[in-house]
Amino acid sequence: MRRAVCPGSFDPITNGHLDIIERASKLYDVVHVAVLINKNKQGLFSIEERIALIEETTAGYGNIEVESHHGLLVDFCKARNIPAIVKGLRAVSDFDYELQMAQMNRGLTGVETLFVPTSPTYSFLSSTLVKEVASYGGDVSHLIPPVVHQRLVDRIAERAAQ
Ligand code: PNS
Repeated sequence: MRRAVCPGSFDPITNGHLDIIERASKLYDVVHVAVLINKNKQGLFSIEERIALIEETTAGYGNIEVESHHGLLVDFCKARNIPAIVKGLRAVSDFDYELQMAQMNRGLTGVETLFVPTSPTYSFLSSTLVKEVASYGGDVSHLIPPVVHQRLVDRIAERAAQ
């Protein structure tokens, strides 16, 4: 079984993430999507909600396993015998930090990182920007799947009412 992992915060999953996960799913037998828990970051969606949205939006690919993980990504990989991390590279601005992480991870356990160039349609896209634009009433419906859009609009309305 050829396995790879697509890691991230996925708060929430965007069309840019889905583009990378779908492309990885065509190259590997199983693609693990790891939702990394960062205790220092308060997300808009809970880890369980993020997992549910990823499961729903990737169900059609047929070979995706979604899990959360608290700790090092290399330990997630080691425990599941995953030799490769697949990440999207949006622009040069991503490169420095991604290269550092790739080199650190390889130095720690030998796990390789493969970079996939994002589709130009999504080169500017991030969950953070989607949340910010949506919170001010901007239209982000073309950047996230419909189910995610609905949940995002609902969550922003809930927060505004608090
Ligand atoms: O979606 P994000 O927030 O850009 O993803 C970053 C993420 C979660 C992939 C990265 O922070 C990560 O791998 N975190 C897990 C903890 C870890 O292994 N840190 C050392 C990286 S060299």
